[in-house]
Amino acid sequence: MSPFQLTRTLPEHATDAALRADVLQGLGRTPKMLPPKWFYDARGSDLFEEITRLPEYYPTRAEREILLARAPEIAAATGARTLIELGSGSSEKTRHLLDALPELESYVPVDVSESALTGAAEGLLAERPGLRIHALIADFTTGLTLPESPGPRLVAFLGGTVGNLLPAERAVFLSSVRALLAPGDALLLGTDLVKDESVLVRAYDDAAGVTAAFNKNVLSVVNRELGGDFDPADFDHVALWNRECERIEMRLRARRALNVKITDLDLLVRFEAGEEVRTEVSAKFRQDGVRAELADAGMALTHWWTDEAGRFALSLATAV
Ligand SMILES: C[S@@+](CC[C@H](N)C(=O)[O-])C[C@H]1O[C@@H](n2cnc3c(N)ncnc32)[C@H](O)[C@@H]1O
Repeated sequence: MSPFQLTRTLPEHATDAALRADVLQGLGRTPKMLPPKWFYDARGSDLFEEITRLPEYYPTRAEREILLARAPEIAAATGARTLIELGSGSSEKTRHLLDALPELESYVPVDVSESALTGAAEGLLAERPGLRIHALIADFTTGLTLPESPGPRLVAFLGGTVGNLLPAERAVFLSSVRALLAPGDALLLGTDLVKDESVLVRAYDDAAGVTAAFNKNVLSVVNRELGGDFDPADFDHVALWNRECERIEMRLRARRALNVKITDLDLLVRFEAGEEVRTEVSAKFRQDGVRAELADAGMALTHWWTDEAGRFALSLATAV
């Protein structure tokens, strides 16, 4: 069997249909919103990688620090023979886990971004010829069918991406992850932690404007895929801390009143001056909250590790 397999679990045109539905619904409501998964075409995935290297964007460095320090403990606690990674992106940090899991036979990266999956797999195959890689182009929020693979299995969800889901979506998502776990399997979950507001806002509004370009990329995706005529220059990037909900919110704010035509949807969208589209939430967590959300989904927190500065946490959980 070839050591690399790429499977598209989304039916043909499913992405197109889902984008249409999300744009119709999201831009037709008040306040307007678009789901963050549409950031990640090839350019969006590249911009996200650039974000991870920004001085202001601490989460990637903090999570890498924990992985480097704790990978042997994770390996000992799980004995994983398969690593399934949701929203794997470039799989950059995952290398530390792959290096530390002595029993590992199979790696299953799952992402909506085909360019990220193929780019990551190329590098990994060259470095680790013995590893079987079965990449899945799939949406982790709509139910996953995973390939057969040897257990115990470790499901990793890194990068704080779980914070991009709203609380009700997180509950559904965590229950669906729980349903994937057989006895002996485990979940490794990365969560960004509540901290000083100025540190948080800077991480999502960097001086070089990379996060602004990433945020505006969703408009280019709508233009290309659905015949939209958004001019990204008509919008400002906004990142603010919602204290009550303990989350960063990224928005795009119209600089002036304007109409946007989306030809493929036969849709004219009106923006008033200053009107915003919410494009991403990024919830920040506390240990008690993570433990409770895992418990509600039928999982027990067994380990909680943070970086030295206490900015980010990795949780290990098993099914109960
Ligand atoms: C914040 S990035 C994190 C990437 C990487 N795990 C890391 O820690 O650097 C989120 C990743 O999840 C993917 N993604 C976002 N929404 C998704 C969805 N609904 N289903 C599958 N992948 C998704 C994106 O393409 C992107 O690669």
